[in-house]
Amino acid sequence: MNQRVLVTGARGMLGTDIVRVFSKKFECFPFGREDLDITDPRSCLLALKNVRPDILVNCAAFTKVDLCETNPEVAFCVNARGARNLAEACMETSTLLVHISTDYVFDGESRRPYREGDATGPINIYGASKLEGEKAIEAYGSNFLIVRTAWLYGEAGPNFVKTVLDLSSRQEVLRVVDDQVGSPTYTRDLAEGILDLSMQRACGIVHLTNQGSCSWFELARQTLRYSGIDPDKVVPISSSEFSRPARRPRYSVLDNGLFWSITGRRLRHWRDALRGFLNSHTYLS
Ligand SMILES: NC(=O)c1ccc[n+]([C@@H]2O[C@H](COP(=O)([O-])OP(=O)(O)OC[C@H]3O[C@@H](n4cnc5c(N)ncnc54)[C@H](OP(=O)(O)O)[C@@H]3O)[C@@H](O)[C@H]2O)c1
Repeated sequence: MNQRVLVTGARGMLGTDIVRVFSKKFECFPFGREDLDITDPRSCLLALKNVRPDILVNCAAFTKVDLCETNPEVAFCVNARGARNLAEACMETSTLLVHISTDYVFDGESRRPYREGDATGPINIYGASKLEGEKAIEAYGSNFLIVRTAWLYGEAGPNFVKTVLDLSSRQEVLRVVDDQVGSPTYTRDLAEGILDLSMQRACGIVHLTNQGSCSWFELARQTLRYSGIDPDKVVPISSSEFSRPARRPRYSVLDNGLFWSITGRRLRHWRDALRGFLNSHTYLS
């Protein structure tokens, strides 16, 4: 009999690809926010008792980093208490909880890619609320997998790559920050990696991104280059020239060595993933 997976946040950017990819191996039960609000503990338990999944993949989160800064109570309610509600319900029903977390749990001061055991130290509310979610899950025992990832883009949601393409058709010059470095990650590749980890029943914390790293400026230029648009439209600026409510880590590259040792593979380089994403869809109007 097929194993069953319940996906929360199933209509978000990553959730959409998780459902698509997991459906190849599991019987999938996608729950959007209107089907299951993870901030309601009783609804979480009820959903698990009704569906009786083997695995719950939690893609639900409050992900708007700047809005988290001005709405900390919502950020902690969804990202921390929501995670705790799911952990509690999963423990009660003996369900493996696969939870998605972020590079923003780190402070960005490292000079090498962050490993799973490195000290955390979020510098914004989003990161702090996601870290509290991780700790709540860890407090409920060992039947969990937390996948920390970064800089996501994909077909199903608004994201940096789509915004760059959109702005390029309306502006002569795009000013993009050059002093934050990370690993852009395609949600479809990430979903495949999370499937691999879930099939192996990996537990604990695992870092997973596309390989290589760059700044937002380089990502914007590469996006235009692969789309046949002049990359020189993109001009580098510093974070101090682009003031936003939430601070961002200046370096948040994640070491994928543990994923490699569990699965024997790595996700492709971010440039190949970006080219694949842009080739498979037309985002230019
Ligand atoms: N995007 C990134 O660059 C990035 C980087 C690192 C890690 N992550 C993590 O990756 C995961 C997926 O992110 P994503 O980019 O796919 O985000 P997303 O597109 O914003 O998807 C999140 C989904 O969660 C839903 N949601 C919000 N509050 C909820 C609640 N109380 N109950 C149930 N569902 C709720 C949202 O619904 P509404 O749209 O209706 O609010 C949305 O469909 C998150 O855990 C995020 O922290 C993302």
